[in-house]
Amino acid sequence: MISVQTLDEFIIRRQTDFPYATGELSRLLRNIALASKIVNREVNKAGLVDVLGITGYTNVQGEEVKKLDLLANKTFIASLELGGQCCGVASEENEEFVAFEAESSKQGKYIVAIDPLDGSSNIDVNVSVGTIFSIYRRVSPLGETCTSEDFLQKGIEQAGAGYVIYGSSTMLVYTTGHGVNGFTLDPSIGEFCLSHPDMTTPKDGKTYSVNTGNFYNFPKGVKDYISYCKELGKGSDSPYSARYIGSMVADIHRNLLTGGIYIYPSLDGYPDGKLRLVYECNPMAFIIEQAGGTATDGFRRILDIAPQELHQRTPIFIGSSEMVLKAQELLDKNK
Ligand code: AHG
Ligand code: MN
Ligand code: MN
Repeated sequence: MISVQTLDEFIIRRQTDFPYATGELSRLLRNIALASKIVNREVNKAGLVDVLGITGYTNVQGEEVKKLDLLANKTFIASLELGGQCCGVASEENEEFVAFEAESSKQGKYIVAIDPLDGSSNIDVNVSVGTIFSIYRRVSPLGETCTSEDFLQKGIEQAGAGYVIYGSSTMLVYTTGHGVNGFTLDPSIGEFCLSHPDMTTPKDGKTYSVNTGNFYNFPKGVKDYISYCKELGKGSDSPYSARYIGSMVADIHRNLLTGGIYIYPSLDGYPDGKLRLVYECNPMAFIIEQAGGTATDGFRRILDIAPQELHQRTPIFIGSSEMVLKAQELLDKNK
């Protein structure tokens, strides 16, 4: 028999490394993994059953809500509520955070912020999508209803973060602040199996990921950085490559493995860019930092930003440290 380590086994082993761990965070992670398997099943069926397309609603950010956005949202929230370790969830798809009112849930130590389906505009065209999650210890008193303060903590306070990529294979990658580990779903046994232990990202890379369709709305520093990447390729047999899937999870996952930078900057008229701090940028920043990379808004570390509201946006420069620092240098020059 080939020896595999399942995610559940890995989580249990890790927990025993921490003598005072109660197992609640472990159970929470396992609930998230279970929900992601259900979402994976639905994503895989997309095209065969009636889950493609839009619901006809728009969310709080004015974006079209896809059927799979709603399905993923419901699945993760239901799984977290059933689990009992979590007292509330904030989601891209809900204007306000959802507070779990059952007495058992109010005893939950954790809150979760989630982007249930990232890159959902890609779903109808069979391109990779993802899920992003962020876990915090609550700051409100145990036994009471959770409060907005629980959700507006700085990224450095995260107890855990992760993403699931529904790609050519399905992977779950997570950190609890002790490195990053990746698990690939083996559909034949329905288990996430450790495939990428102790993931680290190269200090430098040659891939830049940015929607250059917005080029003329970018700040001068970002335009300069893109020109810098292109110019390095002149006459080189190993130039920089532009790669942009349009699913943050998939773009950052590729860059994590191979080295690269992902940029969603401010745009003319949109000084905070597009991506959301609490459930997109903070969790991805935690993972990338744990893998040895860097994440900033061009000037400040993402994890140090104090959120003022749940759906707050921020520009982001994330990936291989050398590349992020170079971009930052050019932004600084054009301040
Ligand atoms: P979501 O589907 O959760 O709203 O996120 C979409 C995000 C992100 O995944 C992606 O990188 C970015 O939007 C793409 O935006 P552009 O189409 O503006 O490039
Ligand atoms: Mn998203
Ligand atoms: Mn989403």
